[in-house]
Amino acid sequence: MRLVDKLIVLGVSGSIAAYKSPDLVQRFKQLGASVQVIMTRSAVRLVAPAVFHAISGNTVIRDIFDRKENADPMPHITLGNRADLFLIAPATGNVIGKIAQGIADDAVTTTALAMRAPILMAPAMHDSMWNDPATQENVNILRGRGVEIISPELGSLAGGQVAEGRMAEIETIVAAVIKRLAPPADFKGTRVLVTAGGTREPIDPVRFLGNRSSGKMGVSLARAAFERGGEVTLVCGAVTAPLPQGVRILKAERAEEMRKVVLENAKKANVVIMAAAVADFTPFCQETKEKRKRKGSWKLDLKATQDILKDLGKLPGNRILVGFAAETENVVTNAKKKLQEKALDFIVANDITQKGAGFDSDTNIVHILSSTGGVVELPLMRKEEVAHKILDQVAARLRVH
Ligand code: CTP
Repeated sequence: MRLVDKLIVLGVSGSIAAYKSPDLVQRFKQLGASVQVIMTRSAVRLVAPAVFHAISGNTVIRDIFDRKENADPMPHITLGNRADLFLIAPATGNVIGKIAQGIADDAVTTTALAMRAPILMAPAMHDSMWNDPATQENVNILRGRGVEIISPELGSLAGGQVAEGRMAEIETIVAAVIKRLAPPADFKGTRVLVTAGGTREPIDPVRFLGNRSSGKMGVSLARAAFERGGEVTLVCGAVTAPLPQGVRILKAERAEEMRKVVLENAKKANVVIMAAAVADFTPFCQETKEKRKRKGSWKLDLKATQDILKDLGKLPGNRILVGFAAETENVVTNAKKKLQEKALDFIVANDITQKGAGFDSDTNIVHILSSTGGVVELPLMRKEEVAHKILDQVAARLRVH
């Protein structure tokens, strides 16, 4: 009964996947939650509200102005204040678009606008609609505002073909809700320092040497550690992923700046996770104020940067150190070498040549190597999930620390 005393508001919009939503209500009820269902007009054409009424035990809200159905004159405001979580499953492209733009013209979108609790959405639509730039932009707007999008999965769609767009599995949605409402508090009282993104080494006032890192892995780790009760500081290089709420953000552009910020803040940290793609080389040249003109040729001399992780290993005090290893061959062997050389507790190794792994991707395929000799091999998964798997390992080590 992990969700006892929780009020989940479930918005159902008009996708075929609405036939699965009663199962969600049943699962939430089994877990002890109260569930209030709100339906759009299109959803009502697909599934009878009586089904949701019977399973949830509450009258379904379809029209916030309908006095016969709602005793409450302002159900959207009441639910907005009282709900612990608002889940929209399935979420159609239309509902996603309206909420992203702040439009409130039905019971579901009006409640979204009034909602104070976290919003989760499980999109379900044809892949052509899901991949449309308008939908993708709207999804990014929502993610940027902290809405959790439970990604649609690959599966056979209503038209018969196999493509991305099918609503996530019921258990995936339930797991996401449990994680939001009752995450393990195993990082409570733990100070976690995470780095994210790539560094930029300037070569003149307008140009720099950078890399493809988006910062998603580091951002996911910071968000996950915060959700699990940690006191989190995130040191950001160049990050394009939306930054998490609730964590202290520090900026560092160059490798040398990042080194200073990290070493300064690591002294108080119990856990340091170096997910940033720190430049290995920086220009040797003097800094110039003038932009170099485009003529002739330009030979750049580069020198190796200082290894931040190695310096962290030498810092006095007792803390758990986690590094990453981006490899293109002999992944485990090379990562094991780095784990030992840098005196790390864990190293997360990925083969960046594999599809779905590495830089600027939403997913990753990693091995987590431990200083005690253990190796956890994970399949392709979203970076948010990889983050929790890494934290599971760190949490186990924290308990014996
Ligand atoms: N790292 C660091 N300081 C640097 C470069 C990298 O702390 N100047 C950290 C990264 O944040 C990462 C780990 O070291 O956690 C491994 O980075 P990677 O580039 O894979 O390894 P390197 O040690 O730089 O070795 P190489 O590039 O030669 O494989």
